[in-house]
Amino acid sequence: MSEDHYFTARPASADERRLISVTLAGEPLELETAAGVFSPGHVDLGTQVLLRTVPAPRGRVLDLGCGWGPIALTAALSGADAVVAVDVNERALDLLRRNAARVAARRPLAPLVACLPIEVAAEASFDTLWSNPPIRIGKEALHALLDAWLPRLAPRGEAFLVVQRNLGADSLAKWLAARGEENGGWGAVEKLGSAKGFRVLRVEAAQG
Ligand SMILES: C[S@@+](CC[C@H](N)C(=O)[O-])C[C@H]1O[C@@H](n2cnc3c(N)ncnc32)[C@H](O)[C@@H]1O
Repeated sequence: MSEDHYFTARPASADERRLISVTLAGEPLELETAAGVFSPGHVDLGTQVLLRTVPAPRGRVLDLGCGWGPIALTAALSGADAVVAVDVNERALDLLRRNAARVAARRPLAPLVACLPIEVAAEASFDTLWSNPPIRIGKEALHALLDAWLPRLAPRGEAFLVVQRNLGADSLAKWLAARGEENGGWGAVEKLGSAKGFRVLRVEAAQG
């Protein structure tokens, strides 16, 4: 199954592009996807829960683990000043770049950059972080990922993460609360909502 390898840099599966019909930020869109990226046939259920639960994005937005782009594109269509979307999967980044160009040809879209994590300037910070994070990379790698990005929230910034309850949403919430307290990298953690087996967690920026 292609999803088993969605976080490889260069998926081995044939890069056959196809168009799917989706609705993002209330807009019906035709977007490009391909095998070898996460949820290529539709907007993932967890992503749908996240997008229905979060308040409108503020300022500069980071989509951590963007895939073909449903979260980044929604942010760019719904009030973000600018969106940075990162992923380790180069096919996903290419799809998102092409999808952003498609959408921008027809609708006003905030500036959106899709790039590898190492291409984001070290000093860049974000007012809003939205993510359906890659739980399947394993607990240690996931913790390292969050340790690297949550401290990059700007003052008064907030992160929203969607996690499947049976893939450890509650233990991740506990870890986030304890870790933020221990290292001061971020502030309070709240369970914002729950639907269809997913939890949305809200993490505040560190108190300046
Ligand atoms: C659960 S998927 C979500 C994809 C997309 N945002 C969506 O909602 O359909 C998680 C994404 O994180 C990416 N990922 C895995 N490891 C990563 C890392 N270290 N840094 C950034 N993204 C990563 C995967 O390649 C995958 O596209």
